[in-house]
Amino acid sequence: MRLIGEITAPPDKSISHRAVMLGAIARGVTTVGNFLTGADCMATADCFHKLGIKIEIEENIGENIRENIGENQAKIYGKGLRLSPPTGALDVKNSGTSLRLLTGILAAQNFDSEATGDESIQKRPMKRVIEPLSQMGARIIGERAPIKILGSRLTGITYELKEPSAQVKSAILLASLYADSPTVIIEKVKSRNHTEIMLKAFGADITKDGDRIISRPAGELKAANIQIPGDISSAAFFIVGALICDGSELLIKNVGVNPTRSGILDALRAMGANIKLLNIKRGAEPSADILVKSSKLEGIVIKGDTIPRLIDEIPILAVAAMFAKGETIIRDAAELRVKETDRISSISEEFSKLGANITPTEDGLIINGADPNPEFPDTNSRGDHRIAMSLAIAGLKIPNKLINSDCVNISFPNFFKVLLKILRTDPAPGFF
Ligand code: S3P
Repeated sequence: MRLIGEITAPPDKSISHRAVMLGAIARGVTTVGNFLTGADCMATADCFHKLGIKIEIEENIGENIRENIGENQAKIYGKGLRLSPPTGALDVKNSGTSLRLLTGILAAQNFDSEATGDESIQKRPMKRVIEPLSQMGARIIGERAPIKILGSRLTGITYELKEPSAQVKSAILLASLYADSPTVIIEKVKSRNHTEIMLKAFGADITKDGDRIISRPAGELKAANIQIPGDISSAAFFIVGALICDGSELLIKNVGVNPTRSGILDALRAMGANIKLLNIKRGAEPSADILVKSSKLEGIVIKGDTIPRLIDEIPILAVAAMFAKGETIIRDAAELRVKETDRISSISEEFSKLGANITPTEDGLIINGADPNPEFPDTNSRGDHRIAMSLAIAGLKIPNKLINSDCVNISFPNFFKVLLKILRTDPAPGFF
């Protein structure tokens, strides 16, 4: 098996969520080019629809129709910071980003609301968001979804983040738009900065001073035109697929390479990956085409400040480590335990079925290659999209029967179509 050809990365999930949210609370019509219509972002759109916002989504426009990847456009008819009371409970389904960020906006409205989600969301911690918002004057009942949010008047705070979480940072930043005084967030370890970047595009007064982010209330936001780059977290599956399958050469076009998200490229290069960035477009959200060729990989240690820059890519990084020479150690990644599933358990238990030599630790994983299981094992994504795609890519080398694969729709609806497009089963030239 090898991966050959050219694909376009699907739109960035984190940025798509934020475009809907900021478009909804800005005044005027926001247009969003290359919007991700995956289940998570559609959950955000549905919540804002319930809060009185008209959102139009036009699917599959533009040149990518042929590739079945689709370039979608969203139009959001924002009415300003004050939303309308929802018609019922807001359901974020599987999306942690929707729930955490929405809570920051709902806390400051003139009405009470209720937010809930699926079984996985109901297990995920909300205290990390509720604590700083409560310091701002929010009144939130419950510690996990479903939660009740009582509309309140908010005041600015100075808050040091306890974990490097973009969701917590963003919830506070969104709430700060409604506060009667400035808010300062102290961020010792950097997490993705899409909210800060996009807030500026919508006219918010956000500045940075060392590790401090300062938000000064500046009244209503103004609608903007946003163009979303491809998602490096989705591209990562095919980057690793091409690296581990001999004879592969793949060009992945239009991938967002914001430095707060591109830790996966640094880690893979440190493992010996042949990855080149072409056609680099600099800007607030930089992007590039990524050219990747199959490579001999070696184990490394991944820890510390790098972890938030690749937190969502650890499942697929573990696949790279399975096919690398030597030991890979991932530490300082306890956050993995509170993702869509406990990813330390999901990775170690599901990948062990493939023959991976993998040991879970409290805050990470130790991976010593794999002794491939020849018996075509059953594997289970456990409903976690990134585990599903990682098992599918590992399956290029160690075939497995993956159940619960539909969840790829959460972030990458055409994942299997794209995989089939670039998959070659003929041996690489010079193989014999
Ligand atoms: C996200 C932030 C990260 C990431 C998640 C998306 C975001 O979570 O794991 O998939 O869009 O802000 P945390 O901020 O909780 O680490």
